[in-house]
Amino acid sequence: MEIRSYVQSLQRSREARSDSRRPDSFRLRGREWTLLPDVFAPPYTTSTDAAMELLGFHEDHQLAGNGSFLEIGCGTGVIAVSAALSGCERVLATDINPLAVRNTALNAQRHGIADRVRAQQSDLFDALDPHARFDTVYWHSNFVLAPSDYRYASLHERAYVDPGYAAHRRYLEQAPQWTTEGGRVLLHFSNRGDLARLHALADETERELSVVRSMHVEEGRDTIEYLLIEIARRDASSPRPKRVGAATSNRQGS
Ligand SMILES: C[S@@+](CC[C@H](N)C(=O)[O-])C[C@H]1O[C@@H](n2cnc3c(N)ncnc32)[C@H](O)[C@@H]1O
Repeated sequence: MEIRSYVQSLQRSREARSDSRRPDSFRLRGREWTLLPDVFAPPYTTSTDAAMELLGFHEDHQLAGNGSFLEIGCGTGVIAVSAALSGCERVLATDINPLAVRNTALNAQRHGIADRVRAQQSDLFDALDPHARFDTVYWHSNFVLAPSDYRYASLHERAYVDPGYAAHRRYLEQAPQWTTEGGRVLLHFSNRGDLARLHALADETERELSVVRSMHVEEGRDTIEYLLIEIARRDASSPRPKRVGAATSNRQGS
């Protein structure tokens, strides 16, 4: 299926990275944001704007509430900073890309909430304080599946594809350990990703997936369906849940 082609996603990465007109700042959701080189660039995709929409930061009933928020893969920091601006009292923003960490710190300063948003380099949860816990753990992931033996040609490509879904497997396994009691784990995904493979990983890691919200966006010739998926530990005593599929996922939830 062409929409899921990792080769096309790598092409999109190259175009966004080396566009001679790539801006050093951009406007999104009524605010101006700094953009550093080699960081995932929201102006070249509909995904970050959709992620903001699905999290509901512009609404009264935003999903992250006002507690603590851990963002994996913060990129420019648009989501982490918006979480703080819409009421989250403590935000930790992490990325494997050190330039993204710097970019997020700059945007936290730019919007006057550097006291509530800390940016840290980490490969998923590896560098975090082992005692830290969060009400919401969130990743707008590199949801396009690449072959397991694919080797990244640039830091920028890490924002687009995940070879063998190795990082997604680790996220499914590890993320529930980092929530407070009653906290939630969320994943921003799309039909560019391989939902069947994600379900297989959820089975292997004893996780349950449910679509909290979804939306369609036209992007060139493609219709992208964005999904906000909640990941929970599977209760061993309950029957295996019915699979959530992109086709059944009308916007729902709080
Ligand atoms: C699709 S981008 C999202 C960026 C930003 N949150 C946004 O919405 O614009 C995915 C981000 O995940 C980061 N990432 C990829 N693999 C990672 C890993 N193993 N640990 C931490 N971050 C990772 C990438 O560097 C990239 O910044």
